[in-house]
Amino acid sequence: MRKKIMAAIMIATMTIGIVACGSSKDNNAQSTTGETAQTETEQITTVTPGKLTVATSPDFAPYEFYSVNEDGTPELAGFDIALAGYIADYLGLELEIVPVDFDGVLMEVQTKSVDIGISGLSPDPKREAIMDFSELYYVGGQSFVTSKANKDKFKSLDDTNNSNLEIGAQTGSIQVDLANTYSSSADIIQLTKVTDIVAEVLAGKLDGAYIETPVAESYAKNYPDLCIALEVPYEGAEGSAVGVSKGNDALLKGVNEAITQALKDGTMDEFIATANEKASGEIIEGLLDDNK
Ligand code: ARG
Repeated sequence: MRKKIMAAIMIATMTIGIVACGSSKDNNAQSTTGETAQTETEQITTVTPGKLTVATSPDFAPYEFYSVNEDGTPELAGFDIALAGYIADYLGLELEIVPVDFDGVLMEVQTKSVDIGISGLSPDPKREAIMDFSELYYVGGQSFVTSKANKDKFKSLDDTNNSNLEIGAQTGSIQVDLANTYSSSADIIQLTKVTDIVAEVLAGKLDGAYIETPVAESYAKNYPDLCIALEVPYEGAEGSAVGVSKGNDALLKGVNEAITQALKDGTMDEFIATANEKASGEIIEGLLDDNK
């Protein structure tokens, strides 16, 4: 099955073209296809019996973010949130979402305070010591973003490798690795929220930042002064997986079955379409701490 999924991913990755500043384009990330789930009920143990406790970092449209609903209240949205609900339903569990910063997601899963993390998580081999990873459910890509005013400064990744530059990446993310790989001479600034990184790029406080491409595209739609200047090769583990509490094999198996089904029956594509639509509406930046 892995092979099949990898083939689908390679095709999806190959279709991703160069993104020009200021031009709006369709989100070209693709979900992958899987095989039929062979469901056999096994006893799944979770942190709170009867519940699936999920950590996420809602600063990452269209994966997870706060959108403003019809009566004006902020509501967790995004295809990761929808997938979390789908997995909970599939397993017959009640969904409990725990919003934290991204480094908190890694910590919550590592310390087993939650059952899973769904947060656009790259299945980085370096994380395998602290969590297990599901199959991939989505493949995006990596970008270097800057402001419209600065876009001419960055024609190639070499232009990002300069000691005069301040370049952002989210704390704990693989984007920090990208910054260290391609911009090691620059001052690398780690911030806990992607939305703060976007705000600082727009304000000219950061010269640029490394961000997941679908997220960069989503924020660029809302903030047209944000530009995707460069596509960034990532040699680690492209794509998003669910991070599962290490050693909870029954849960990992159940999560994989749910993902396989959501990819196969078109549900994941629907979740992605809805999330992209919502992310182009009014969204709240950052993390609402009281919205737990
Ligand atoms: N894919 C990157 C990683 O796993 C970034 C994920 C950030 N997610 C978020 N919700 N802010 O390191």
